[in-house]
Amino acid sequence: MTQVIRSSAELREKVAGWKRSGMLVGVVPTMGALHDGHLSLVREARRQSDRVIVTIFVNPMQFNNADDLKKYPRDEGHDLALLDAEGVDVLFAPEVTEVYPEGFATKVSVSGVSEPLEGAFRPGHFDGVATVVAKLFGMTQAGRAFFGEKDWQQLQVVRRLVEDLNIPVRIIGCPTIREADGLAMSSRNVRLSAAERAAAPALHRILEAAAATLHGGASARETLLDAEAEILEAGFREVDYLDLRSVEGLRPLERATEPARLLVAAWIGDVRLIDNIAV
Ligand code: PAF
Repeated sequence: MTQVIRSSAELREKVAGWKRSGMLVGVVPTMGALHDGHLSLVREARRQSDRVIVTIFVNPMQFNNADDLKKYPRDEGHDLALLDAEGVDVLFAPEVTEVYPEGFATKVSVSGVSEPLEGAFRPGHFDGVATVVAKLFGMTQAGRAFFGEKDWQQLQVVRRLVEDLNIPVRIIGCPTIREADGLAMSSRNVRLSAAERAAAPALHRILEAAAATLHGGASARETLLDAEAEILEAGFREVDYLDLRSVEGLRPLERATEPARLLVAAWIGDVRLIDNIAV
């Protein structure tokens, strides 16, 4: 049975016991509303660790939009059943006051890699992510942590964070899991209407086609202007960004002359979807 723990003191005691027996502890940090993408992280964590903690905490500090926070899907009972079926040892689901008690005054801010793309469109978002992830590493004391490549930029921010602050955790990035029609799995997908859900896979299709063109040596500016127009034609109402970036450091690239990533954020109705693929 997956044990639910809400207090960091209790979690610390549990983990200390495991570590005394020489066990390697893995953590999968999440905000709940779990789907197969999360479960693939859990399975990788189980392969690579002796004990697995999944954290569920809808972190208010990383939401730059109050409405998005309010509408963020939550269903702990269902999540717990899924984690139990995967053999997860502990679900750590703290209250907001456990993570941010009265007097909390620290903010972790990673510069550079957190500034473009999501950082430009969601001010403060990555400060909230870096702060809570640093806290979750402190609270769980895990040796390995598993993050999805779906949030590619977040993964780079977390890698920078642990390197810069000498946090003794190994970060493992895991591939994006997609629906059969290519739509990247996301907790926000449940908010799509039937028509939006039907249109949404175009995002990945268009990314794939643009990546192939860029791989052939085409200019990013032209290719991405065309791709953006296609995304809008497919039923999205706005593209926040569609950008070719270096894998190392997320530098903007005019051509795919080095390992690169194509990243997009676009609005369909009032749902903002993000995706990225290798070029
Ligand atoms: O990717 C997420 O779900 C969140 O950003 C994370 C890493 C759990 C931090 O709140």
